Amino acid sequence: MTNAHPMNHFPHDFEWGVATSAYQIEGAAAEDGRGPSIWDTFSHTPGKIIDGSNGDIACDHYHRYPEDVDIIASLGVKAYRFSVSWSRVQPLGYGAWNEKGFEFYSNLLDKLAEKNITPHLTLYHWDLPQALQDQGGWLNRDTTAHFADYAAEIARRFGNRVASIATHNEPWCTANLGFGNAQFAPGVADKALSIQVSHHLLLSHGLAIKAMRRVASSAKLGIVLNQWPAMPATDSARDVAEAEWEYARSVQWFMDPIFKGRYPQKALDRMDMSQFHTEAEDMNIIHQPIDFLGVNYYTREFISTDSPPKKPQAAMGVTDMGWEIYPLGLTDILLRHKNDYTNLPPIYITENGMAVADKLIDGEIDDQPRIAYVHAHLDAIHAAIEQGVNVKGYFYWSLLDNFEWNSGYAKRFGLVYVDYATQQRTLKASAHWYRNFVSQQLQKTE
Ligand code: FCB
Repeated sequence: MTNAHPMNHFPHDFEWGVATSAYQIEGAAAEDGRGPSIWDTFSHTPGKIIDGSNGDIACDHYHRYPEDVDIIASLGVKAYRFSVSWSRVQPLGYGAWNEKGFEFYSNLLDKLAEKNITPHLTLYHWDLPQALQDQGGWLNRDTTAHFADYAAEIARRFGNRVASIATHNEPWCTANLGFGNAQFAPGVADKALSIQVSHHLLLSHGLAIKAMRRVASSAKLGIVLNQWPAMPATDSARDVAEAEWEYARSVQWFMDPIFKGRYPQKALDRMDMSQFHTEAEDMNIIHQPIDFLGVNYYTREFISTDSPPKKPQAAMGVTDMGWEIYPLGLTDILLRHKNDYTNLPPIYITENGMAVADKLIDGEIDDQPRIAYVHAHLDAIHAAIEQGVNVKGYFYWSLLDNFEWNSGYAKRFGLVYVDYATQQRTLKASAHWYRNFVSQQLQKTE
């Protein structure tokens, strides 16, 4: 594949990978003892998913994982980020473990090992066991203790077979979309409650890290946060102040407790804390060393206080999700972290990718916009590395087209096209491009 773009050299130990999550690909929703999760309930509730679909079958990865791992291997990438479905290994989220569920992940890890692919495991990619939701879910402080038990059990069983374990994926989404505006499961719209949920998510992160440290496996322990710079539309004091507040309430809200041991005052000043309950020891639990930070990056936030608000120019276009393509925002946020936090662990870009309205024509998918998107974001990461940010890896979101939450199967993020009627997988042009890119990077370092 030709590309006029000059290719940057990444550090020799940089990890190249692809990412997925359990509910989005596994299917087998009621098989082998898996308990229901809040996403089963939510997706089966009429009106919640734009195409009326659910994850009952998804990519049928539960049955097709050997083929999918072969596909990962064929891409030449050496790392794979996936998540465990909590209710598959512990149907209620407390009490009995489900051996059949562990067997599935154990088989997956065997297959990855056979192909020399390094596994990176995420404990929670949004699929809370429904039985815990029935007791209040993330609003109930007890859920944090159940999460720590689950984390310890995973570390005991798999901690020496995976390179890393992330506690949460994008707690911002669970809090703000799950409880703030009801777009995601469990579908609650109450801003004040969403703040309490975010605190419990952070607390559960800290408790889980502590519990997993006691297990003392070889896995590196961390968390994955979705992040974006909030950029003011103009230099006006109002736009600038609004952008700073937005950054405080979304990015610093999670970063500061973990790395500084406190919530950002700028965010607290304007939040409805009427239902906020925290206990004396909580911040110490949340604020403890972690081994890595995962950053998921898709777009920036553009902040205008005008009415109607100014829109970004979107010089590089928008994705099929309607998200502005803005690679510089990734450099920006990485540099800002370097400046704001003195104790940053190594960073992995744990997600980055683009939805394209892909069409399968004569057996091929020519997704040039995705190639341009990935290339531009890799350049943005490289620029941050050059300026001293310790980025250790990149995982494209996603390996496969999959169940894109409330967008159902209508949005395609994969390097690999999935025909949902036949479950046939077809590598897109971007998959071939990524394979070439990674192979050239690896050759340089061998
Ligand atoms: C992220 C999620 C991931 C996927 C991408 C597009 O917010 O972590 O599951 O939905 O967005």
